[in-house]
Amino acid sequence: MTLTDAKQRLRLWFDRDHRWMSVPVTIAALLVLVVLVKSCQGLAYYHSDEGKIYRLGYPIEDARLLASTLSGEQIDSLIARGEHDTIAIPVINGRYFIARNFDRYLAYHKRDTTGATVEDIIAVVNVGLDRDREDSAMPCDTSKGQLVLVNGRHYLDENYKPDNLKPFTRTYCYEDQKAHQDAVDAFIKMQQECKRQTGCHLMVNSAYRSYQDQQGTYKRNDKRYVAHPGFSEHQTGLAIDATSLQHSEKWSFGKSKEGIWMRENCHKYGFILRYPEERSRLLHYSYEPWHLRYVGVETATRIHDEGITFDEYYAFYLDNRY
Ligand code: DAL
Ligand code: ZN
Repeated sequence: MTLTDAKQRLRLWFDRDHRWMSVPVTIAALLVLVVLVKSCQGLAYYHSDEGKIYRLGYPIEDARLLASTLSGEQIDSLIARGEHDTIAIPVINGRYFIARNFDRYLAYHKRDTTGATVEDIIAVVNVGLDRDREDSAMPCDTSKGQLVLVNGRHYLDENYKPDNLKPFTRTYCYEDQKAHQDAVDAFIKMQQECKRQTGCHLMVNSAYRSYQDQQGTYKRNDKRYVAHPGFSEHQTGLAIDATSLQHSEKWSFGKSKEGIWMRENCHKYGFILRYPEERSRLLHYSYEPWHLRYVGVETATRIHDEGITFDEYYAFYLDNRY
């Protein structure tokens, strides 16, 4: 029997005895198939991360966002908490959200009594101020070069000494001072432009300080404003405490003509005002109108334009990994 014969016989059999069945049977079979597929999909969704998050009370699109953004461990702990957290989605949508900090954002929000905004929660956690100093201090990553982060949680070794230190001539300081050569050159350029525009003469009060120098500074001064030895960025050679011939009082320097000029223009020369008043709640040290940190023009400009601190910049742009 040929293939054509077989087809012919099948058609005859169907036409003769079973034609009546064709439409309902096909519909029923399709319905069963649809129900089966849907049940499998439903079961798979029920057991998926997204499904489990959805059952905590998140809208479906939020559950999808959480499932696709968080790590397996974070999803497990979110599910284990067993409740809908009101800031989970706002933090994920935050401008400076860092995925690995997700659990800490939620934990900080839970114990916060100040009514911190989502932006504040993200910033506080990103810069490590949600943690005790003793538990979280770690060595600086000096491979970052001019962008090394030194703060109340990141310390330099006692023997760390930067390369390329260069002395300032006495035109710029009252006693011998040196700093990283790029910082010295940039300061001199800035100084000249400041003089041209304001008539004031910027000076260097203090620049590079070795670990041992910092021990002396720490002993002699108010501990609120001086870093522990090892925790000062003066040890990098990239920090400069500025003053001026016209205005030597350091606290009011920020309100002086040259202090204001320096704050508004220093990024053009690669400096940032490292401890700005308006973000003092996010700093490891207090507001200091005189303390400049050299980071290069590109980074300084970005920090200036975004209105963030170096700690925030570092966390988001240089250390944002799982
Ligand atoms: N005054 C700053 C915090 C320092 O000692 O490095
Ligand atoms: Zn300083």
